[in-house]
Amino acid sequence: MNSTINIGLLGLGTVGSGVVHIIDQHQDKLSHQVGCNVKVKKILVNHLDKERDVSLSDSPLTTNPDDVLNDPDIDVILEVMGGIDDARNYITQALENKKHIVTANKDLMAVYGNELLETAAMNQCDLFYEASVAGGIPILRSLVDGLASDRITKVMGIVNGTTNYILTKMSKEGRAYEEVLREAQNLGYAESDPTSDVEGIDAARKTAILGTLGFSMPIDLDDVTVAGISDVTTEDLVYSAQLGYTIKLIGLAERSDNKVEVSVQPTLFPHSHPLAAVNDEFNAVYVYGEAVGETMFYGPGAGKLPTATAVVSDLVEVMKNMRLGVNGNKSVVPQFEKQLKADEDIYSKYFLRLHAKDQPGTFSTLTSLFSNHHVSLEKILQLPLQDRDSAEIIMTTHKVSKKNYQQVLHELDELEVVDFIKSSYRVEGDD
Ligand code: NAP
Ligand code: HSE
Repeated sequence: MNSTINIGLLGLGTVGSGVVHIIDQHQDKLSHQVGCNVKVKKILVNHLDKERDVSLSDSPLTTNPDDVLNDPDIDVILEVMGGIDDARNYITQALENKKHIVTANKDLMAVYGNELLETAAMNQCDLFYEASVAGGIPILRSLVDGLASDRITKVMGIVNGTTNYILTKMSKEGRAYEEVLREAQNLGYAESDPTSDVEGIDAARKTAILGTLGFSMPIDLDDVTVAGISDVTTEDLVYSAQLGYTIKLIGLAERSDNKVEVSVQPTLFPHSHPLAAVNDEFNAVYVYGEAVGETMFYGPGAGKLPTATAVVSDLVEVMKNMRLGVNGNKSVVPQFEKQLKADEDIYSKYFLRLHAKDQPGTFSTLTSLFSNHHVSLEKILQLPLQDRDSAEIIMTTHKVSKKNYQQVLHELDELEVVDFIKSSYRVEGDD
């Protein structure tokens, strides 16, 4: 192995500049770990004349991808530019040129991960993507290596910092969704177009990756049922709290009998559950393994240095593999065929909030409907509304199949005593 390993960077934005900073500041530690120096040889950007907040004394910028992808002196490429089409093409080309890849790109890996991993394996190259899920938390490595001996049955994550920030502020300060979203945009947590975050798409991409690695099954983005937080109201948070719960946007992948369900949805947790205590922009991933039991990984899910730490740690692993001559040997092909659960196989508790006529017989009508579909109620709260003819009714169910529960919701909507179904969410962590 050479005394210096040259790397190329695709992108020098938030994460890329963090990577340059960490390589520069941690050079001693890196060379001690991998037995050689690390040099950033070239960096692909869009705008050559943009002001940069890192020192680039010996690392020329270029706008020509070939300068990085085809440089025979570059062994490892770190893709931190984002987007899908260019990133996919550049990574494919680099792998075919026998260059190892580290990427932070969850949008790409959630859709083309399996294709790229196969290309990497065919070319005896490493392709690592720790930073793509939960930024600075080493969760992918924990699933693949740390828990390698266990059989994981459940992965539940708060994997989107923007939505966790919004729900935390709504819950703790009683502020409305739109107001907190504006604040999150001003603070730079939420993007000017926040759709991907608030509608759960960003979390769905990360959850597809977590499920694929957790269960060694090729889970695609299309396999994830997705609901975001844009319909969650302060009333939902207040009434949930009265029943002892906090609402979080959760990416969930769960396996039983070798079938899986994968979803992103607002979910209630009892205040005592560790995920209920994850606030502001922080992320956490709860993993249940049959042997280890409950584990939880907590930390910053985004940001320049936390995300760059994950990228550079992947780089260290690539370089250790180079020293041992074992690149491309890590088993990446999923072990199991994917089998998704049907709605009748998905069991969960639910929270339901509705407005109903405050009159004799309302509760007996409601409970008959629940009973007809084998839905048993666990907690019930009724409060008068300002309009004295109606009542706010909040309840939680025992575990019920998703199929039966959907039928209940459908029939509730048709009942004359029900004015509105205000909200309904899954309940977890309360078994
Ligand atoms: P960013 O700040 O927008 O930076 C993107 C960089 O890539 C810029 O330097 C840009 O060049 C360059 N670039 C983009 N498209 C290019 C193209 N087609 N050709 C050449 N250069 C191109 O993005 P970021 O926040 O660092 O995110 C990078 C990746 O990390 C994304 O995949 C993102 O999802 C992922 N990630 C980010 C975070 C985070 O906290 N930001 C956390 C986890 C994962 P110019 O500078 O010249 O415009
Ligand atoms: N938009 C993401 C979040 C950034 O809010 O968590 C990290 O992927």
